[in-house]
Amino acid sequence: MSTTETSEAINEKDLDYFCKLVNQEIGVQLGDKAYLIESRLQPLLQDFDIATISELISKMRLGDRKVQAAAIEAMTTNETSFFRDQHPFETLAKHLIPGLLDKTGGRLTIWNGACSSGQESYTLAMTLRDHFPQLCSSGRARIISTDVSPAMVARTQAGSYSRFELNRGLPANDAIKHFDQSGRRWVAKEELRNMVEAREMNLLNPWLSIPKCDLVLLRNVLIYFTVDVKRDILRRIRTEVLAPHGCLLLGASESTVSLDSEYESRRVDNSAFQFIKGASS
Ligand SMILES: C[S@@+](CC[C@H](N)C(=O)[O-])C[C@H]1O[C@@H](n2cnc3c(N)ncnc32)[C@H](O)[C@@H]1O
Repeated sequence: MSTTETSEAINEKDLDYFCKLVNQEIGVQLGDKAYLIESRLQPLLQDFDIATISELISKMRLGDRKVQAAAIEAMTTNETSFFRDQHPFETLAKHLIPGLLDKTGGRLTIWNGACSSGQESYTLAMTLRDHFPQLCSSGRARIISTDVSPAMVARTQAGSYSRFELNRGLPANDAIKHFDQSGRRWVAKEELRNMVEAREMNLLNPWLSIPKCDLVLLRNVLIYFTVDVKRDILRRIRTEVLAPHGCLLLGASESTVSLDSEYESRRVDNSAFQFIKGASS
């Protein structure tokens, strides 16, 4: 394989076809970021023993599902960290979870949609373990963690992180308290892993395995979708998933404003939480 072939630029027709495919399958809008797309497709050439990006796209056009799935997965942005934005987790522990537990009789079902490699789910698990230990030992807390990427779901299931990943947001005391060192990796303790149920799920498909939830975290994923997809997902969370007393936490740059007027945004301490309008809380 020559260098010219591997660094070949994606042509306009292929770019258009591929952007439409990704949008149709997972809702992500790639825009015209040709350079980003090329650099993320490049490693697949070796995986599938294919010489050029145009050949890779031809295989997709011919319906090769393996190549399509790998190429689509390569377009997901999996950026995440422990205690991302910090404030919401403090607010959950101090104010919101105690109120939710009063409503549920001491149980908590949480859906962490788009969980990436699991740092967000384990942040929730540590928060529960530290502030509500009775929930964890009695199996009364579930954190259902889903992502469209099989690789991210496997990582969430394993709960295993590098030192670099730990250093992004996890205080040293929490690392020692909640993780076991295994060679160069740090693995979440069994009591945390028992709370986190990782599953593959595309937000565009029916959410058959998601029960009624007291709390939904769907952070930093709506930003990748079209307005119509954002609206549909917010409506489905409100009508299919959230318990009447429940609340939704979005990413710091996301909101329900001009997308779904049936949510009421309430600021608690420094964080905004979305409640169903008129529902008890
Ligand atoms: C930037 S990460 C956000 C991770 C975490 N929620 C956080 O805020 O740190 C976005 C995640 O959304 C996932 N994703 C993208 N499209 C999706 C879809 N259609 N269904 C489910 N997950 C999707 C990606 O695989 C990626 O792991």
